[in-house]
Amino acid sequence: MHVRLDDPIDLDAFRRHARQLLATGVPPDRVEWNGEQAGDGPADLFGAPHDVAPPAMPAAGARHAVPASFVALCGDVILHRAPQRFALMYRLLWRLAHEPALRHDPLDADMMQAQLMAKAVHRDIHKMRAFVRFTRVAGDDGLERHVAWFEPDHHIVEANAPFFARRFAQMRWAILTPERCVEWNGEALAFREGADRREKPPPDAGEQLWLTYYEHIFNPARLKVAMMRREMPRRYWHNLPEAALIQPLTDAAEARSQSMIDAPPTEARRIRAPIALHVRPADGVAPADLAELRAATHACRDCPIGALATQAVCGEGPLAPQHMLVGEQPGDQEDLTGRPFVGPAGQLLDRAMAQLGWARDSVYLANAVKHFKYELRGKRRIHKTAAQREALACAHWLESEISLVRPQGLVALGATAARALLGRPVAVQAERGEWLHERADGKPVFVTLHPSALLRLADGERAAAYAQWLGDLERARGTVSAAIAA
Ligand code: URA
Repeated sequence: MHVRLDDPIDLDAFRRHARQLLATGVPPDRVEWNGEQAGDGPADLFGAPHDVAPPAMPAAGARHAVPASFVALCGDVILHRAPQRFALMYRLLWRLAHEPALRHDPLDADMMQAQLMAKAVHRDIHKMRAFVRFTRVAGDDGLERHVAWFEPDHHIVEANAPFFARRFAQMRWAILTPERCVEWNGEALAFREGADRREKPPPDAGEQLWLTYYEHIFNPARLKVAMMRREMPRRYWHNLPEAALIQPLTDAAEARSQSMIDAPPTEARRIRAPIALHVRPADGVAPADLAELRAATHACRDCPIGALATQAVCGEGPLAPQHMLVGEQPGDQEDLTGRPFVGPAGQLLDRAMAQLGWARDSVYLANAVKHFKYELRGKRRIHKTAAQREALACAHWLESEISLVRPQGLVALGATAARALLGRPVAVQAERGEWLHERADGKPVFVTLHPSALLRLADGERAAAYAQWLGDLERARGTVSAAIAA
């Protein structure tokens, strides 16, 4: 029997043929796949016409069940370059159908051979992912494309293409190989026949940058030549621009390591978080949602506090709530957990709200200043009130948060929040307990004490102050609708 498959990696076609051969009882040694006897012969002979008519599905009942792992194994083996892979797969199929013990024999020579082939295919897939180097080229349509030349050992281009499409989804790219090329236009993958090595694009400016980077990250003290050879076999070198650097870098490694050992110790430097770009209304682009706000505040370095904090702490709670409660700034525990009002002040607020039957998750809780400002005392980080210029630098973040959350009324807990919301200094004791209508966006503001002000009071004063504060909160809760109507 002669079987010819047009496509070297068409597993479905192979399975149809193999099932029919098995169902009609044709033993493996009677089948010649693509003109190849198992174990010999030149490379591919694909593309010739079928000697055996493309088979229909075998009749029901003639099916032989094989383990799912065998089908998966064939999915890998068929990508191997060896022309004998079809014969091997069919022999295994035949034997699985006739030798039930085979599936439990880990040392069977055919099975081991198939597994070695699958492993080689996986390795090739991995190497392609690691060693493809794109070069930027201008396309005929004037659009930029990234083109790479790669020489895989096996038929892996189709199997690997979705990985590159996911990884470089925003780029237009092509990977050229001698047998198969794949292109991604930003929406779909397209495959075509192989390319000539001369189509490999010339080096671009990015390549020089990459070489400089490679040279700088090469650490002579960590050089392990054997491991490097294993991970980066020489046969890949001719397509890797950095390969030209390997010999000079390894030659100089010993001397460089010695000079590192001989050099005096470097002074420890304080590590600061990098200053990143951020989005702010003043730049004309306000964050589009709370996730963007969170990312932008995290990166904000408009004032010095951000660089010392663990993270920015934005608010939490439902959108379009009746109330948004605004505190001063995150404290030590808020800074570590990334959530507002979880430390001692937050626990007092929780207790007050619970006493009023006011669910914490019905309000949005936020702060005027998004980073924790502190002073180190020994190992302790002691809260420091944010300076006015720091609160001012944060004001646009709070305003963005208010626009995104859309509360009906704003409750300022303490002077920093009241000033941030009203844009003027506020004497909390004098102005507490009333809705104030001063904001340009029309949102009423209710001023009361910050819970930490109660925590700081002497024992004898705390109970009365707490009762008065509860009264404020109850009033803020109950009168927001009237305040909006006012
Ligand atoms: N104090 C605040 O103002 N906000 C918090 O999140 C915690 C303490």
